[in-house]
Amino acid sequence: MNGNGKTFYITTPIYYPSDKLHIGHSYCTVATDVMARYKRMQGYDVLFLTGTDEHGQKIEQKAQDAGVTPQQYVDQVVAGIKDLWKLLNISNDRFIRTTDDYHVESVQKIFKQLYDKGYIYKGAYKGKYCTPCESFWTESQLVDGKCPDCGREVTDAEEEAYFFKLSAFSDRLVKLYEDNPHFMEPQSRLNEMVNNFIKPGLEDLCVSRTSFKWGIPVTFDPKHVVYVWVDALSNYITALGYGNSKYHDFEKYWPADVHFVGKEIMRFHTIIWPAMLMALDLPLPKKVYGHGWLLLEGGKMSKSKGNVVDPVVLVNRYGVDAIRYFLLREFPFGSDGLFSNEGLITRINADLANDLGNLVSRSVSMVENYFGGTLPTERKSEPVDEEVISIAKALKEKYDAQMESYAFQNALIEIFKLISRTNKYIDETAPWVLAKDKANNPRLATVLYNLLECVRIAGILLTPFMPATAPKIFEQIGAGSDVTSYESAGTYGLLPADVTVHKQAGLFPRIDVAKELAALEAEKEKKAAEQKKAQPAKQPEKKAAQGVASLITIDDFAKVQLRVAKVIACEPVPKADKLLRLQLDDGTETGRQVVSGIHPWYEPDALVGKKVVIVANLKPAKLRGVESNGMILAADAGENDVKVLFVDDSVPCGSTVR
Ligand code: MSP
Repeated sequence: MNGNGKTFYITTPIYYPSDKLHIGHSYCTVATDVMARYKRMQGYDVLFLTGTDEHGQKIEQKAQDAGVTPQQYVDQVVAGIKDLWKLLNISNDRFIRTTDDYHVESVQKIFKQLYDKGYIYKGAYKGKYCTPCESFWTESQLVDGKCPDCGREVTDAEEEAYFFKLSAFSDRLVKLYEDNPHFMEPQSRLNEMVNNFIKPGLEDLCVSRTSFKWGIPVTFDPKHVVYVWVDALSNYITALGYGNSKYHDFEKYWPADVHFVGKEIMRFHTIIWPAMLMALDLPLPKKVYGHGWLLLEGGKMSKSKGNVVDPVVLVNRYGVDAIRYFLLREFPFGSDGLFSNEGLITRINADLANDLGNLVSRSVSMVENYFGGTLPTERKSEPVDEEVISIAKALKEKYDAQMESYAFQNALIEIFKLISRTNKYIDETAPWVLAKDKANNPRLATVLYNLLECVRIAGILLTPFMPATAPKIFEQIGAGSDVTSYESAGTYGLLPADVTVHKQAGLFPRIDVAKELAALEAEKEKKAAEQKKAQPAKQPEKKAAQGVASLITIDDFAKVQLRVAKVIACEPVPKADKLLRLQLDDGTETGRQVVSGIHPWYEPDALVGKKVVIVANLKPAKLRGVESNGMILAADAGENDVKVLFVDDSVPCGSTVR
C-alpha cells in the first residue's frame, strides 16, 4: 500500500548555530521526525527538511570574539548540530544551511523579484536595533529604553534601507485565516496573531542592513545584506530548488503540508512568510503549527542562565527512544510543559519499564517457558478475551485520528490504554494457573497468542516514536515484516498461529530514582564548575562592583520609595513576547498593576504568590498600551540573565524597604 502517490512536506525551523542545543530545541525536531516517520509508514513520499540559520550580526560578533571567520565559526557549530540529530535518530531527508551557495543564489533572486514587482522599495531606516534578537524597533516600541522582547540594550540605527510592503497584505492575511481556519494551529495562536499583530496595523518591514557584512548581499546594491528572517524563511522553498538548480522538486513538494515552529516565531511564519509568498505569487503552506515551550522551574531554558538540559547526557543515560517517548508523551504539543529529571525518570519507569517492558518480557517468557518458544495451534477462546481484542482492533483508527491532528500525547495515551489493558488481561487469565494442567493448553495458547497480537499492534503504532525499540519488539514476538506494516495494525490475528518467539534482554531497565537524580545533579554541578573555570572573566559579582558609577546622598536615596508587594496574578502582555503584567498586593486597598520585561526569565506561574520589592513612586507609564504603576526590582545576575529580588513571605505587603 502507499499513500495514493501523495507527498508530504514537513519542516522544522532552521536553528541558530548555537554551540549547545538543549532539550527544548530537540523537542521540535523529534516531533517533526515522528510525524515524518508516521507519514512514511502510511506510504507517503515524505520530504523532511531541517537545517541551520547562519547569517546575522550576532554570528559575526561571536566569530569575532572567537577569533575566527564567521564561516569557520558556523562550520564547526553546525557539525555539532548534525551529530545531535544523528544521536536522536532524526530521519531528515535534507539539511539546509543558509550559507549554502544554492540558497544564497535563490535568496538573491527572491529579493530581486520582490523589488522588481514593487513589493520592496528603498527608504531610510531610523530607529533602534537589538543585536541578540536581530530586531529593529521604533523608539515608541522600546520598554524603558530597552528591547521590548528581551529587555537588553539597543543601539541607534539610522541608515538607508530596503523595506518590504508588509502593510499591503493585512486584508489578504485576514482572508487567508478566515478561509482556512486550520492554517494556524493550535487555534489559540490565531487569536494571538490577529489581535496582537494584524488588528493594530502592520507596518512595512525593514529587510536590509548596511552596518554589518555577514549576510546575503543584495545583488543590485551590494552594500546591503538581506534581513535574516527573509533569508531564513526562504529556506523552505530554496531547499526544493526554487531559484536554483541544486534541487528540482519544488513542483512536487510545495506547498508544505506543515511547518512545525515554536510559538515565539509563529508571527514570522503566519504573517511575514505568507505575505512574502503572496508577493511572489506562490502557493501558501497548508498549515503552521506553533508548539509550546519546554520550561524549567523558574522559566525558559537559556544558556546564559546555565539551566539548559543537555539532550546528549539524557540520551546516553536512558537511551534515545526513552527520551523521544518522554518528550511527546509528557507534554501536549501545543502547550508549554515543565521539564524535570524526576518527571522524566518517573515516566520511563512507569510506562516503559513497567507497562511496556514487562508486557513484552512476560509474554515472550511465558511462550518460552510453557511451550518451548513455539505456540501450539489448537485454540480455546473465552468471553474474557473479547474486551482486550476489541480495544486492539479499534486502536489504529483512534491513533490515526490523534496523529492526524498532531496530538502526539493522545496518540500515545491510546496505545498505552491497550498496553495496560493487556497487562490486566494477564492477571485476569492467570496463565501460570492454566499451565499447571496440560488439558488447558488450547486455552493457554489462546491467551498467549492474544498477548503477542496486542504487543504487535502496539509495537507498529509506536514505531514512529521509538524507531529503535519497535524492531526489537517484533524480533522478540516473532513478527516478520509481513505482519508489521502500518496497515497490518488494523487487522487482528495476523501473527502465524504457531508463532515462535525469541527472548532477549529487557527493553527498558528500571531506574533507581533517587540514585539517578543525585547522579544527574552531580553531573550538572561538575559541568557548571568546568564552565566557571573556563570563563573567570564573567563573574557577575565583579561586574556589579565595577558598575557603581557616581555617588548619591541619603536624601537622593530617600526620594525612592521602595515597598514590599505580593504577586496576586500575572500574565503575558499581548504583542510583547517579553513583557509580563503583574497584579500586586502592595498593602493598599486597590493594589496596583506593574508591567515588567522579565518574561524571558520568568513564567507567570513562577511569580504568583511571591513577594517582591517595587519602586512605588515611579511615574506611571504605558508599555505596549498597558499601564504600569511602578517597577519591580531585579538584579543583572550575569550576561543576559536577570533575577527578581524575592522577599521572605513573613514581610507584610506594603512594608517600606530602606
Ligand atoms: N532561526 C530561527 C528560526 C528560523 S525558521 C525560518 C530560530 N532558531 S532557534 O534556534 O532560536 O530556535 C529553533 C526552534 O527551537 C524554535 O522553534 C524555538 O521555538 C525552539 N525552541 C527553543 N527553545 C525551546 C524550548 N525551551 N522549548 C521548545 N522549543 C524551543 O528561532
